[in-house]
Amino acid sequence: MTLSMKDRILKRFLLASGEPISGQHLAEELGISRTAVWKHLQSLQEEGYTFDTIKKKGYLLTNNPDRVDAASIASFLTTERFGQTIHYFEECATTQTIAHELARKGAQDGTVVIAETQTDGKGRMSRPWESTKGKGIWMTVIIKPDVLPHQAPQFTLVAAVSIVNAIKSLYSNFTPVIKWPNDILINGLKCTGILTEMIAEMDRVQALLIGIGINVNQQRDDFPEDLHAIATSLSIEEKSTLNRAELVGTILNYLEKYSELYVTQGFSPIKKLWEEASGTIGKQIKATTLTEVLQGKAIGITEAGVLEIQLENGEIRSIYSADIELNE
Ligand code: BTN
Repeated sequence: MTLSMKDRILKRFLLASGEPISGQHLAEELGISRTAVWKHLQSLQEEGYTFDTIKKKGYLLTNNPDRVDAASIASFLTTERFGQTIHYFEECATTQTIAHELARKGAQDGTVVIAETQTDGKGRMSRPWESTKGKGIWMTVIIKPDVLPHQAPQFTLVAAVSIVNAIKSLYSNFTPVIKWPNDILINGLKCTGILTEMIAEMDRVQALLIGIGINVNQQRDDFPEDLHAIATSLSIEEKSTLNRAELVGTILNYLEKYSELYVTQGFSPIKKLWEEASGTIGKQIKATTLTEVLQGKAIGITEAGVLEIQLENGEIRSIYSADIELNE
């Protein structure tokens, strides 16, 4: 991972989990002077990290502000590619646009753009996306799979199963489910949205931009009034404050694993994982497409990631894009 010296020092403290580290030791390990170590610690303190000096032992990290910067995420990564390059912003308009520019300039597979807040966050169907400062995960992952343009929607489902399984592996007080195609809900309320964009030629995908928005630490009052009845956060459901960097790292670990599964074994293992985590299959739904409203039972997804619905008259219809409401 390409971390700055300051971030390397921070990562070292995060991995030391509560143990002091001597300045001399750090300087030798990183090949810099003790004065340089001290200057980096000063600059970390300006960002809100605090250190105690423990006699004869060195520095102890005593306050770790909850940030999703590269060093904080790095201590949770077990990947080879995903998250190995992270572009971190305190604030940006939308991580999607930055990711577009980076992908065009040849960013590596698995490059991440992440921000504490977005001033112009984008949802699906040109809706705005609320990105409360420091409370959620607002990130875009650039993926460069060797797939054809028509396979791109399957990758959205790869992202959905990665996120849902990362969430399940960390928290236990609730069960998240996927609502087709890619919302994640808890007790009927949305906690995660995914926006997939593509840079492609006719016969080749150059890059997929997987935009992931997760409500993590918001409490009820953090949400604007119009979202109260439809949105929730992981913290509300888990009933504790959560470590966002840990969740980002865990999602990237799953995303790399499932992307490789998809590339080596095709869509069927992903389809199986998706159906296991789905809250849509087997349910009566109302699907509003651009041209019509369909009522029926969701019976499965196809190899193309298309939702199949059986209407009351028995007819089976394929749904490529729609807003889904569960009728229960
Ligand atoms: C949806 O409508 O459900 C998709 C929401 C996607 C939001 C994420 S937040 C990070 C990335 N940047 C954006 O502007 N949107 C996506």
